[in-house]
Amino acid sequence: MNSGTVLRAAEREIALVAREEAHLEAEVLLMHVLQTDRVGLYTQLEKEISAIQAEKYHQLVQRRLLHEPLSYIIGHREFFDFDFYVDNRVLIPRPETELVVQTCLDYLKEPFIDCGETCYIADIGTGSGAIAISLALSYHRAVVYASDISIDALEVAIKNCHRHGVRSRVYCSPGDMLEPLTQPVNLIVANLPYISDADFAELSPEINVYEPAVALAGGVDGLDCMRRLLLQIRGKLRAGGAVVLEVGEGQAHSVVALAREQFSHARIDIINDYAAIERVVKIMP
Ligand SMILES: C[S@@+](CC[C@H](N)C(=O)[O-])C[C@H]1O[C@@H](n2cnc3c(N)ncnc32)[C@H](O)[C@@H]1O
Repeated sequence: MNSGTVLRAAEREIALVAREEAHLEAEVLLMHVLQTDRVGLYTQLEKEISAIQAEKYHQLVQRRLLHEPLSYIIGHREFFDFDFYVDNRVLIPRPETELVVQTCLDYLKEPFIDCGETCYIADIGTGSGAIAISLALSYHRAVVYASDISIDALEVAIKNCHRHGVRSRVYCSPGDMLEPLTQPVNLIVANLPYISDADFAELSPEINVYEPAVALAGGVDGLDCMRRLLLQIRGKLRAGGAVVLEVGEGQAHSVVALAREQFSHARIDIINDYAAIERVVKIMP
């Protein structure tokens, strides 16, 4: 059997769980098995696939049919143009979170920001380290304290720090919210769990069966973590510092109100994502 035939058969199967993405997913899995890129794949479509490769491909497709996310199966995910190792200990970084990183970078470029030689950043709930490492790679004056309540997740973040050569500028520590942070920083960034209990049950199995619940579940209204974090900010931010938070659809104004309770005179901006959803809240106390 040639690669093109197995690819088309896999696409038909994957369409049962991922209708829109079936073609792309079948290709990605086959590229993973053949250890090639898209150009390589298309030049090999008429070639015979070995029995070992066909069996491996079949197994990966079966995992996908059980709703395992593609990124866990292939073991990596692109985020902010960087490639991150992922497995089921961490949330798969989402495209909308790239706006969080971009908001932080825009803030760090503001003329009124004076970090001196080094800008100290805390990434709370770092997961795979996607935000922390993207900031360290994109802003060379950044030193990032990346923390997470999940030790399992931190192991993945540390692996990604090694992968991207930023272990000397990204410090990973376990702990609850801002508790591991021993000194004030210029910027606190967080993409904490924000799915409400009602919405959690409605998520696809790819998410609510395979991704860690600790990375998603945010309590009755989804804002449990946000409330706790905002209560802890005072004393952890340097003068002129900022807090950048990712929020769920429809949550931005509630988060602004929570921030106002703590910082009545703060400048607070809401930034929309590419789908015009209010996605990021930036607080400058
Ligand atoms: C939505 S995921 C975000 C992961 C990563 N920052 C990203 O954007 O892809 C939330 C992360 O917050 C962590 N987390 C949940 N509760 C926490 C807490 N109380 N303190 C610190 N981290 C927490 C979870 O373990 C998870 O890794």
